[in-house]
Amino acid sequence: MSKSLIYRNIFFYRILMNILYLGRYKYRFDKIIKIIRPDSTSVVELCFGDTCIAQYCVKNQIQWTGFDLNENFVSNAIKQNLNAVKKDILSIDQFPSCDTYIMIGSLYHFREQSIEILKKMVSSANQVIISEPIKNLSNMNGLVGFIAKKSANAGKGEEHFRYNQRTFLDLIDQLGVKYRIVSVDKDILIEINND
Ligand SMILES: C[S@@+](CC[C@H](N)C(=O)[O-])C[C@H]1O[C@@H](n2cnc3c(N)ncnc32)[C@H](O)[C@@H]1O
Repeated sequence: MSKSLIYRNIFFYRILMNILYLGRYKYRFDKIIKIIRPDSTSVVELCFGDTCIAQYCVKNQIQWTGFDLNENFVSNAIKQNLNAVKKDILSIDQFPSCDTYIMIGSLYHFREQSIEILKKMVSSANQVIISEPIKNLSNMNGLVGFIAKKSANAGKGEEHFRYNQRTFLDLIDQLGVKYRIVSVDKDILIEINND
């Protein structure tokens, strides 16, 4: 199954994501970096795509491991000497333990399996950070809508499903854990602390 152009090269990815996020692509990562617990010494990032979080971790002596199934994104990370692993996260029975799990803009890829992935993250870390788009940009007119429609094929076909705020929070409620909503705009950002 042929991937969307956005998934074939990290440079296209950054350009197109900057258009989708109206120039605020990097700001998404900065918001997440701000809430990584100061005592966190290890981060696992699922579906990492880009290496902004990884670079922050390296600079701050935090051990980073990233999983993604896209060979272009993984090889871009490995070229920077980052601990990136090419893996379909659905094939990982037990997630490695760490202080902080992060998943950004990717939960919609998993739908029925989302809850299982979230449970594995929660049981493997002290802190879980999830950022997820809650506005379906593919409904928009113009360039943003066009790119959003054409950019949701990570290799398993077009994916039109997206969460909205209610369906996303319903999903998180199923975990039965306390969580904090950090911010809500195009994306919702939540943090779960296990202790
Ligand atoms: C929309 S991108 C988000 C990337 C990055 N986290 C960000 O916010 O810019 C979704 C990412 O999920 C990855 N992905 C999709 N399905 C996956 C799976 N089953 N296992 C691992 N990675 C997956 C894709 O390769 C892609 O890097």
